Amino acid sequence: MGLDLEYIDGQTPIDEEEKEGLLIETISTKAELDEFEQLNIEEALQWVFGKKFKPKQLFTENFICNLHKRMYGNIWAWAGAFRRTDKNIGVDKYQIPMELKVLCDDVLYWIENNTYPPEEISIRFKHRLVSIHCFPNGNGRHSRLMADIIIEKLYDLPPFSWGAANLTEASDTRTIYIKAVKLADQHEYQPLLDFARS
Ligand SMILES: Nc1ncnc2c1ncn2[C@@H]1O[C@H](COP(=O)(O)OP(=O)(O)OP(=O)(O)O)[C@@H](O)[C@H]1O
Ligand SMILES: [Mg+2]
Repeated sequence: MGLDLEYIDGQTPIDEEEKEGLLIETISTKAELDEFEQLNIEEALQWVFGKKFKPKQLFTENFICNLHKRMYGNIWAWAGAFRRTDKNIGVDKYQIPMELKVLCDDVLYWIENNTYPPEEISIRFKHRLVSIHCFPNGNGRHSRLMADIIIEKLYDLPPFSWGAANLTEASDTRTIYIKAVKLADQHEYQPLLDFARS
């Protein structure tokens, strides 16, 4: 038996080597995987929302990896560890630590100088983070949770609604989301900002 996964538009395929990191042997379909990951993510949410954070704590390699580990550590051996394969999205695997450091420095500057409104800081950070694509998988959900943490914990504003749908499944909402992500690739952030509050 193995893990037989089907991917929808904008999802990062998991390599054979990465599939060996599956910690729960009974998972064999994408639906089962999604369900187990969702349970794990709910544990991470419990952990996050009982805590307070300062910008200097959040925007570190340590916190970003730790959050990924809390979201997926029950399911994947590589949770919280940077990607060791190249993907169709994301920077070269060797560039990840440096690119992440640059991003963390940038967002700290934006926050300190109010360069953009809170929503835009959260969404710009989310998009740059998912564009680096630090991890073998789970980058989308991780980046959306980071945006929620920024807006709620640093600015005391309501979390994003992200189209009020499960974005992990194929849907019209997912199509709108991926379109908005691609526009953000071209530095047009408004559609992703609108989507996040829809
Ligand atoms: N052209 C693109 N440019 C930047 N980011 C992209 C692009 N296409 C997809 N992405 C991002 O990659 C994410 C998918 O990556 P990955 O499969 O690692 O995350 P996930 O959490 O498993 O999936 P999902 O976001 O679908 O729930 C999407 O959420 C999207 O934000
Ligand atoms: Mg995925």
